[in-house]
Formats: sequence, C-alpha cells, structure tokens
Amino acid sequence: MSRVAIVTGGTRGIGEAISLALQEMGYTVAANYGGNEEKAKAFTDKTGIATFKWDVGDHQACLDGCAAVTEALGPIDIVVNNAGITRDGVLAKMSFDDWNEVMRINLGGCFNMSKATFGGMRERGWGRIVNIGSINGQAGQYGQVNYAAAKSGIHGFTKALAQEGAKSGITVNAIAPGYIDTDMVAAVPAPVLEKIVAKIPVGRLGQASEIARGVAFFCSEEGGFVTGSTLSINGGQHMY
Ligand code: CAA
Repeated sequence: MSRVAIVTGGTRGIGEAISLALQEMGYTVAANYGGNEEKAKAFTDKTGIATFKWDVGDHQACLDGCAAVTEALGPIDIVVNNAGITRDGVLAKMSFDDWNEVMRINLGGCFNMSKATFGGMRERGWGRIVNIGSINGQAGQYGQVNYAAAKSGIHGFTKALAQEGAKSGITVNAIAPGYIDTDMVAAVPAPVLEKIVAKIPVGRLGQASEIARGVAFFCSEEGGFVTGSTLSINGGQHMY
C-alpha cells in the first residue's frame, strides 16, 4: 500500500503542483482546501485526487479532517503545510483581524496539522513534514508584518519540530518560495510587482512546479538525512 500524503491548500496554485508531484511519486494524495468548491471539483475531475474541505486555522477541524483522510485513504505519513493567505497593508492601516487571521491560518495551520499527524508518524517510525515558508519570512516585506511574522515563525517551527522528530524517522523541512506565478502574487498591484520582478536576478516569476520539485525531494525515501533544513527557491532574489 502506498504512503498517504496530505497537502493543505492542495487544489490551487503551488499546492496543486505539489499534489501532482507527490502523486507522480506514487503516493496516495489527499488535497485539503478551504473554500473554492468549484476549483476543488475541477481538480478532482482532472487528477483523480480526493479533496477534503476544512479550515486549517481551526484546530478541531484539522483533527477531524485528518481522521476523515485516514478513514478514507489510510494513515497519513506525509504532510505538506502549504495553505496560506495574505492580508497586506502597512502596520498603520492593518486591523487586528488582518493580523490575527494570517497568524491563525498560516502559522496556526502548521501547528494544527502537525498535532493531528505527528503521533501516528512517531508510532510508525516514519514521516515527512514540509512547511511552505516564504522569502518574505526571511527578508521581511513592506506591507506584510503579519505575513512576514507568520512565515518567519514557520521557519522556527520547522527547526524545533525537526529536533523532536529526528529520533522517530520523521523529517521536518521548509521551502522558502520567492515570487511565484500564482493568484496570490497576481493580486499585488502591478506597479509594485514590476519593481519586485526587476530585483529577481533570474528575471522572472517562479513556476509552481519549481516549488513542487523541492517538496518532492524532501518527501522522498532518500531524503531521510535532510531535516530542519530550509530550501530557498527564489530566482536568486534573496541569498540566505
Ligand atoms: N519600500 C519602501 N516604500 C514602499 C514600498 C517598499 N517596498 N512599497 C510601497 N512603498 C511606499 C510607496 O512608495 C508609497 O510612498 P509615498 O506615499 O511616499 O508615495 C507608500 O509606501 C504607500 O504605498 P502604496 O500606495 O502602495 O500604499 P497602499 O497603502 O495603497 O498599499 C501595500 C500598501 C498594501 C503594502 C502595497 O504596497 C502592496 O500590496 N505591496 C506589495 C506587498 C507584497 O509584496 N506582498 C506580497 C504578496 S505575495 C506573497 O506574499 C507570496 C510570497 O510568499 C512571496
């Protein structure tokens, strides 16, 4: 029986590319999604990958959702914490809700999903957790105190949990994507985005599939000696 992987936010953008890459590796993939029913249905029709709807910022929903995936597909050995949102704005204009929602979903989601799956991985002596951070968690970004704080937190979370999982065959790693050609980046005002792209040495936005390659490496059987690591995939924009 093939190992089961869950990808949060796995039906669109970077998450969709990750779901496909893990499916190609022979894993049984479950794609979680938060709200876009239409896109989730189209994704299943196209890929045959089962989708599961819940809010990763909701602790109980993650416990229940992972139980449902286990019931349908088998025990979860691989978790990719990809789901994330932006609520950009300068601090002076940012509401507490915009701060809190980004922390709850982007950082809280990693805690909730890891809590729901780590015990089972430890019992079975094998696991892979990959957290999607961001260049903006490494370098900061004007207008993103919430997102930069949450993504920076993900990098710390990764290194701490890696130490806890190491003796049980569980690796915990992070990817720090730069600006990738997705709906999230398309929402950045065009003149702002132009200035950002001008600072990318490779001279273009990244592709979701280029992030998925990194995730696939961390999730492979051969990746067992790589843990607590952050792989920057950003076209040379920030060399960290
Ligand atoms: N550095 C310095 N100053 C900046 C700046 C920057 N990077 N960006 C904007 N400013 C300045 C502007 O020049 C302007 O100055 P003046 O008033 O003196 O002209 C001032 O800040 C206000 O700028 P805006 O008119 O843009 O202000 P706003 O309130 O309308 O919008 C904002 C502010 C929401 C932060 C907007 O600039 C924005 O959306 N920026 C993009 C933020 C960004 O990169 N988000 C990434 C999303 S994708 C993602 O997060 C994925 C990932 O992991 C990489």
